[in-house]
Formats: sequence, structure tokens, C-alpha cells
Amino acid sequence: MAESIAATAPPSSALSLPGGTCLRGTVKVPGDKSISHRALLFGAIAEGTTRIEGLLPAEDPLSTAACLRAMGVGVSAIRAGEEVLVQGVGLDGLQEPADLLDCGNSGTTMRLLLGLLAGRLGRHFVLTGDASLRGRPMGRVGTPLAQMGAMIHGRSNGNLAPLAIQGQGLRGTTIRTPVASAQVKSAILLAALSAGGPTTVIEPAQSRDHSERMLGAFGAQLEVGGPGNTVVTLTPGQSLRGQSVIVPGDISSAAFWLVAGAITPGAELTVENVGLNPSRTGILDVLEQMGARITVLNCREVAGEPVGDLQVSHGPLRAFEIGGELIPRLVDEIPVLAVAACCAEGTSRISDAGELRVKETDRLAVMARQLKAMGARIEEFEDGLAISGSTALRGASVDSETDHRVAMSLAVASLVAQGETVLARAEAAAVSYPGFWADLARLGKPT
Ligand code: S3P
Repeated sequence: MAESIAATAPPSSALSLPGGTCLRGTVKVPGDKSISHRALLFGAIAEGTTRIEGLLPAEDPLSTAACLRAMGVGVSAIRAGEEVLVQGVGLDGLQEPADLLDCGNSGTTMRLLLGLLAGRLGRHFVLTGDASLRGRPMGRVGTPLAQMGAMIHGRSNGNLAPLAIQGQGLRGTTIRTPVASAQVKSAILLAALSAGGPTTVIEPAQSRDHSERMLGAFGAQLEVGGPGNTVVTLTPGQSLRGQSVIVPGDISSAAFWLVAGAITPGAELTVENVGLNPSRTGILDVLEQMGARITVLNCREVAGEPVGDLQVSHGPLRAFEIGGELIPRLVDEIPVLAVAACCAEGTSRISDAGELRVKETDRLAVMARQLKAMGARIEEFEDGLAISGSTALRGASVDSETDHRVAMSLAVASLVAQGETVLARAEAAAVSYPGFWADLARLGKPT
């Protein structure tokens, strides 16, 4: 029964999830993770106070806040429903920390800090993180920053944390990034703020543009153009001014409810206050391609970002094919789309998604392994998956393998499975959505 789902997953817990559950009701997802990191970081280097409403109170933004506090930035306590105040120290006001900066599980924290700290002349910083983060590639940021004059050292020729940064004077330049990554782009833009001249970043496809929007609102001088908005030029010299930021709900968190609503018979859900930035709404395009019943209501603009409420109900789904420039627009939603594919008619294909192999886990391998344990028919390729649909999933023992999005995707799969699913390391969800298990318990109804 749905009521047996624990309200919150205790540490290192295996969670019991009943099969045959549908979801009904209204849910307000927590603040956008990408925007939350940026509001904290940009607020820290601005002049004056930044007030943040709706900041995501989850482990990843807490890591960013802790690193900033360790460099002398006043960040008020981060609690659900409470405004967060950041006392900016100005672009060059970050102090040399007395200890390692621990980025936890957060790739965004580490990569954006690399960019921000590379130009802090004469100061030394060491960034580290958990076992997952210490295995993720950082050379994709270190290499372009080195082109600007940054000095960053670490294991595996500077690719793996712990990473030591010796702050340098940086020069402006033009950088073509080999992957469409907002983390890489944002790191370069942060370094560009204190470079000697303009810096241009050219991406192979547009990644999420929250940094460009928010840096502009804080007073930075940047221009976005080129085919598909893939070229961004930042001209240094402007100081940032503290702002009021309202963080919309995270579409990457909403995605779990959208897929759950689309696949569980009898479901009717409203997901409120969802950020609908076009660089993030690929999931809506795919669900539409699948024939899902989704209505966008109450579209509005909140602090420079489009926002709306989404209604979803169950209906028959068709298989999908995704790849190319769509991938950066839904990169974090692929695990839960793999679950949707199991419930659609036909074979779904995901390609050009090799980036998933260097996320918090190798998400192609982990999702294939865990969904196969539930009876899914999945073929894994170097850059994607082929998933046969109309599969009756069965409850099984599965494992998040420490990945927050895997934990929540498997919980969605368990809703349509026959019999009980036992999910190990369910607590991983707290990285981006600490209230997920409580929301699931509240919305879940036996079918
Ligand atoms: C993020 C960008 C994405 C995404 C990550 C958050 C960001 O990574 O997967 O969860 O906040 O910039 P990449 O841009 O490296 O693909």
C-alpha cells in the first residue's frame, strides 16, 4: 500500500515501495538546482545583499553555501520556505580558505568554483568531493581555463579532484567547448569576469542558459548570439550588484511526477510552479511525442525565467527517439525517460547521450542494470539505450548506486511494477529533492 512508503528515507535505508500505485493530487516541486547554485555564487561575488526566495534546500546547494562560507561569505541558514540572504564580498573579496573546500556530490559546485577561483590572484584553494565527484572529469573545465592562464593541478594530469588552484591573472580569449555543458560554459564565464579582455564561449549545441540570464540581471556585460544561441561573449569590467532572485521549481524534479502521472493508470497530477526555460523543456517535447496528456497552465515570467503549472494524466504512450541537440535540453531526465519507455508501445531509442556516463554515476549502465532487474528489455550502447516497451515490470531488489536521479526514477518504475520493490540507498534523493519520499507517500493511491 502507498501509505507504507516512509515519509523520509532514513540514512542508508532500503525503502520498500509497493507496486500498483497511482498518483493523484497536487505537488509543488522544490527550487531549481542549477538556478540555486548560481544565485548563491553570483550573490557571493556581487556587491551588496542578494535575497533568494525558493532556494533548493538540498545537499548540492548546501555544498555550494558551505564552500562560500569557508571563503568569508555570509550566507544565512538554508531552510525550506525561508528566504536566504547572501552578503556579497565583491568579485575579488573571496578569502583564501583555511581548509579544503568540500563540494560533496555536486559537479556544479566544483566546476563553477574552478572558474570563479582561477582568477583570484595570489590565493590558493583546494577543491574536493565525495567518491563519485572525485571520479568525474574536471579537465573539461581545467583545459579551457588553462587557455585563459589558470593554474590548476590534480590527479590524472589535472582531470580528477582533489584539485589545487593557484589564483592567476587571466586573459580573455575564444574557447570552443567540445561538449554542450552548462557547467563548462558557466565556469568559463565566471573566469571571464576577471579576465583582461572579452571572452567568447562557443558551444556545439546550446546548454541551459541560466548563467547568462542571471549574470545579465546582476549587471555583467554579455552578448548571446550565433546559431541556436551557441555563442556567448562576456566583457569584463562591470561589477555585479546584489539582486532579489526568485527560484522557480525544478523541471528536472517535476519530470519524475510527469512520467509517473503519464504511466500509472488512474493518475491525475498537477505539478505547480515549474521552471519552463526553453533550454530545459526537452522532456515536455518528448512526452508530447509519446502522446502523453500534459497541459501547461498559468504561464508567467518570474525573475527572468518562464514558469507554469503542469497537469498530467494517464494515457497510452508511444515509443520515442531522441538524440542530437535535444540531449542537452533533457540531459538529467534521461533516467526517468528510460522508465517511461518501458511503458510505451514500441522500441524507444536514446542516442548521442554519452555524457550520461560521466554524471553522478554512469547513468546509462546503472539504469540498464537496475531496470533489467525489474524485467525491462534494454540494450545498452556506447552513447545510448534501446528500450522495448509494453513490458510488465516486476518488483525487485534494486539500488540507486548512490545516484539521486536513479533513486527517484526507480521509485517511478516501482509504481507500475507487479509486487514490492526494495530500493537500496534511497537516501540519495536528498541531493536534489529531500522531500521526494514524503511527496510520493502523500500522492500515492493504490490502483
Ligand atoms: C548543470 C548542468 C548539467 C546538468 C547538471 C547541472 C548546471 O550538466 O547535468 O545536473 O547546473 O549547469 P552539464 O552542463 O555538464 O551537462
